[in-house]
Amino acid sequence: MDMDKLVSLCKRRGFLFQSSEIYGGLNGFWDYGPLGVELKRNIKEAWWQDMVRGHDELAVAAGAPGAYEMTGLDCTIIMHPQVWKCSGHYDLFVDKMVDCKECQGRWRVDHLASSECPRKPSKRPGEHDKCQLTEPRDFNLMFPTTVGALSGEEGRAFLRPETAQGIFVNFKNVLDSTRVKVPFGIAQMGKSFRNEITPRNFTFRSREFEQMEIEFFCHPSESRTWYEYWRDRRMKWYTSLGLAGQRLRLREHEQDELSHYSVGTADIEYAFPFLPEGEYGELEGIAHRGDFDLRSHMEGKLVKNAEGCLEVEMVEDEQGRKRPKWKGSGRDLTYRDEITGERYVPHVIEPSAGADRATLAFLCEAYHEDQAPDEKGELQTRVVMRFHPRIAPLKAAVLPLVKKDGMPEIAQDIYRKLKLRFAVFYDEKGAIGRRYRRQDEAGTPYCITVDGQTLSDRTVTIRDRDSLQQWRVPAENVVDEIANRVT
Ligand code: GAP
Repeated sequence: MDMDKLVSLCKRRGFLFQSSEIYGGLNGFWDYGPLGVELKRNIKEAWWQDMVRGHDELAVAAGAPGAYEMTGLDCTIIMHPQVWKCSGHYDLFVDKMVDCKECQGRWRVDHLASSECPRKPSKRPGEHDKCQLTEPRDFNLMFPTTVGALSGEEGRAFLRPETAQGIFVNFKNVLDSTRVKVPFGIAQMGKSFRNEITPRNFTFRSREFEQMEIEFFCHPSESRTWYEYWRDRRMKWYTSLGLAGQRLRLREHEQDELSHYSVGTADIEYAFPFLPEGEYGELEGIAHRGDFDLRSHMEGKLVKNAEGCLEVEMVEDEQGRKRPKWKGSGRDLTYRDEITGERYVPHVIEPSAGADRATLAFLCEAYHEDQAPDEKGELQTRVVMRFHPRIAPLKAAVLPLVKKDGMPEIAQDIYRKLKLRFAVFYDEKGAIGRRYRRQDEAGTPYCITVDGQTLSDRTVTIRDRDSLQQWRVPAENVVDEIANRVT
């Protein structure tokens, strides 16, 4: 698939626009247009429905080691600065960066090989005449901001670089305000911000994006089985919505890529068309985080000691006394099992997905060009977005064949009835074939046409976007017919 064609369709049909485009755009920021906002919302709603609201905590889900509960949160983007000190982001959330002294270009060191010099696009960074790259240095990806009127360090806060920490710091609140018992999961979706050095590949690497994260708390002895469950469950979620086949894969990290406490980490990856042949980009990571996060927020920022175990990082003050580098909250974030009486810090399995990367993968997967007959029966190339009906921005379009003989009135009546339940579109402008093509490009699974026969027998045609088959149904059954097919 040609990525340029998809990018141009996204703009032309209103899926994605560059942010602040009339002022020349802002690198790494994207706006979702009228179709894009519906698509992304449908993806997020499918995730929330399938992971949280629709989860049956009374039954053992397929493949799960036991029954479990799921609940949700919606935390603030700006949190207490100590959150990021204890989580490790303040010290460690860095990429190595280099500058070119001649053209002032700036790159992530690990992106150098695949980047181009802005002055001479045929050249790699640093390949100017007389050019020199600076020594690599750390660049923290968190966006700083100021809270209130306080200046300097006192008022300095950060836009969250992940939604996960809001869940960890609310662990006790959720336990105390609900009756959830380990094992259980807390889900959150929302904006995250990273000051990426080289944002690129359309929305793949943006500076403002949305995450869909679950922190699943379990007993340490069960973490391996829960890890395997979530890894497989999340993979199935993508395939159930139409990301299937060769382009999607699950990649287990090698043992030497894992933190010492981890029982496993896997990435769900997609072969985005902008990547070189054979390369995949991460859609979601499923990580075993052990008790790292809850302990950090309890005790202070943790580091690995010589034996490879986690302990609070200590520094010396002026008097030579040792103190924690970043103090934890001091709150008790342990869990007590009411039946066994055991008290422990739960282990965490974290399926962490990006809503924008998922949206981009669904857009890439949906794009097809095929041959379809026009009104004269001649084969023409058509662009069709084959979205799964659950995530399609519009579920149906209602089209009167002509703008007379009472057809618009019947079509409008059907449109209004459908609109009470679904995102639908009404279109009476232009030749019917061109109207179908517009809906194919928007990925609308069904077109409902009111024609001459409707006036005599009150039936309408329904056209299937993918098979191009058409069949007639009584106008009064249209809502049920569409509902059965898109939900
Ligand atoms: N809490 C763990 C965490 O944030 P991550 O791998 O850094 O893990 C999780 O991010 C997901 O968030 C990624 O798999 C990706 O889908 C999305 N993501 C991360 N950085 C992104 C960026 N700059 N632009 C778009 N999506 C991003």
